[in-house]
Amino acid sequence: MNSSEGEELVREANEVSPEKLFSECCDIQSKASSTLGTDLELHLYSLKTLPPALQQWAFNLVKENLYDEYVAAKDTGWSDEDKQREMTEPNARYIVVNTMGGDARPVGFVYFQFTMEESCDDKDEVKNDEDEDEGSEESGEDVQIPVVYCYELQISASYQHCGLGTHLMSLIEELGRRYHMLKCMLTAFKSNTAALNFYRKRGYEIDGISPSNHLPPRRAARISYEIYSKVL
Ligand SMILES: CC(C)(COP(=O)(O)OP(=O)(O)OC[C@H]1O[C@@H](n2cnc3c(N)ncnc32)[C@H](O)[C@@H]1OP(=O)(O)O)[C@@H](O)C(=O)NCCC(=O)NCCS
Repeated sequence: MNSSEGEELVREANEVSPEKLFSECCDIQSKASSTLGTDLELHLYSLKTLPPALQQWAFNLVKENLYDEYVAAKDTGWSDEDKQREMTEPNARYIVVNTMGGDARPVGFVYFQFTMEESCDDKDEVKNDEDEDEGSEESGEDVQIPVVYCYELQISASYQHCGLGTHLMSLIEELGRRYHMLKCMLTAFKSNTAALNFYRKRGYEIDGISPSNHLPPRRAARISYEIYSKVL
């Protein structure tokens, strides 16, 4: 697949309405082995259909779950403005899990996008520390491929370890397959060992474009995150 074919697939996937994507999720759920509890339901939104109060709730949940990790990461830090901007990109899609009944409320979500991402699978071409000058981080033959990128996966503390994270990742992976994306990708802090174990158990590996796979070791060590991916 060349880059323009990939871009066309991403463009088509981004044009799919939230209603159509939601019906695909229902279809995937009906065939999936992992099931959502009977007291929980899904909603799917594009940025345009995401209610502002829900967007604020999602932002607050990221902050509640990961603020300390961001602050501890000297190369990123936490910025309300940057995170708000990141979470309101035009092609954003959200799948939100809600409780049902009288006190219906959101308890977890995944924020993803269909997008083009760099691909560099030549993991052997890691630079030496001697190459540490600016602009020396490129290695291998970089191409762009269509991916489903998981920007946030966040579950409220009292609903963690109930299978929701697994369920939401399975959904976006299957949506990715249906729309011919080649990989599912995500970025995670090296310090977030619980999340890293979670992703590794679900088949994710450090991607070729991740710092530790293409930067000199000393530079890679100063970066707080890795990029993980799973071939779809
Ligand atoms: C990391 C995170 C997304 C995982 O989501 P989750 O809903 O807790 O994950 P799951 O419940 O699907 O799976 C977690 C574990 O619970 C277990 N589990 C699932 N259902 C269970 C149940 N009914 N009872 C007990 N354990 C259960 C799973 O087997 C899994 O264990 P394993 O990884 O050893 O296989 C979630 O913990 C979270 O939001 N963390 C804070 C934010 C964060 O770090 N996000 C990721 C940023 S990169």
